[in-house]
Amino acid sequence: MSTATITVQVKSVTFEAERINSYELRPRAGGELPPFTAGAHIDLKLPKAMSRSYSLVNPQGERHRYVIAVAHDAASKGGSRFIHERLRAGDTLSITPPRNNFALTENARHSVLIVGGIGITPIWCMVQRLVELKRSWELHYSARTQQSMAFLEPIAALQAAHPGRVVLNFDLEPGGQPLDLAAIVARAADDAHLYCCGPAGLLESFEQATQQRPRDHVHVEYFSAREAPATGGGFTVVLAKSNVSIFVKDGESILDALRGAGIDAPFSCAEGVCGTCEMRVLEGMPDHRDMVLTEAERAANKSMMICCSGSKSETLVLDA
Ligand code: FES
Repeated sequence: MSTATITVQVKSVTFEAERINSYELRPRAGGELPPFTAGAHIDLKLPKAMSRSYSLVNPQGERHRYVIAVAHDAASKGGSRFIHERLRAGDTLSITPPRNNFALTENARHSVLIVGGIGITPIWCMVQRLVELKRSWELHYSARTQQSMAFLEPIAALQAAHPGRVVLNFDLEPGGQPLDLAAIVARAADDAHLYCCGPAGLLESFEQATQQRPRDHVHVEYFSAREAPATGGGFTVVLAKSNVSIFVKDGESILDALRGAGIDAPFSCAEGVCGTCEMRVLEGMPDHRDMVLTEAERAANKSMMICCSGSKSETLVLDA
């Protein structure tokens, strides 16, 4: 049941900005990597069973490499610290195939992309795709200072080539101000698609500013959970294909219960943001707590993230 991994080799490590490096990963065995679309991420399998999700930043047509950018997080639980301090060119590591929870609507009449800090990673991939498709777009990109802004050079070149489409904002430079999200959203046409990636405060302001917009036109990438996981237990999970029933106890997630019963259910973030643990729901009513499914997908009850979501019904039948 676990997800197959791919072995890659670090081809190069590049300084992109203060405390941000990019890493070019090539297939160890040569050949091509699985295709991906703008907004996709991969999970890096790190020592001590750590698994971390990173968005792909290179153009989506590339099959010979994946490029990720990693900020050395001062509050790192070990992932970004290991990558910055230990991962070197020539090292090999295991990754999961790309998965996209933040897909680009390529045929939108206009796309508004809003970024704070390292949130640029999926958005830069999207911008390159929109340029390739010759679509209408605008980018609002904020960082503390010029020195801390990743991919400043290519984005400044894009700004020069597409006047009026790129707004670069430096909060801590003299006269700097946070992005005025309400004004950016208010100016966008009613049918525009709006995207945001960045720190929690920016995402919250974006959610507020876009409350009146159609939900399928609003796209947000979360890096951490907003809702507490459902660990109340008291229900039974039936795995239809395996013909196994497992009772989920108080204090456990479904993932905990499955793994406790020796079932090798795939997972990565364990907090509802990466989508690795998604399972199809055949019967029952999940108690959704993840940040992956849209409101419409939650209401459809066709799938759920078993690392954080629980059950509102006494029994959940999953396609596993
Ligand atoms: S493991 Fe990441 S969403 Fe469940």
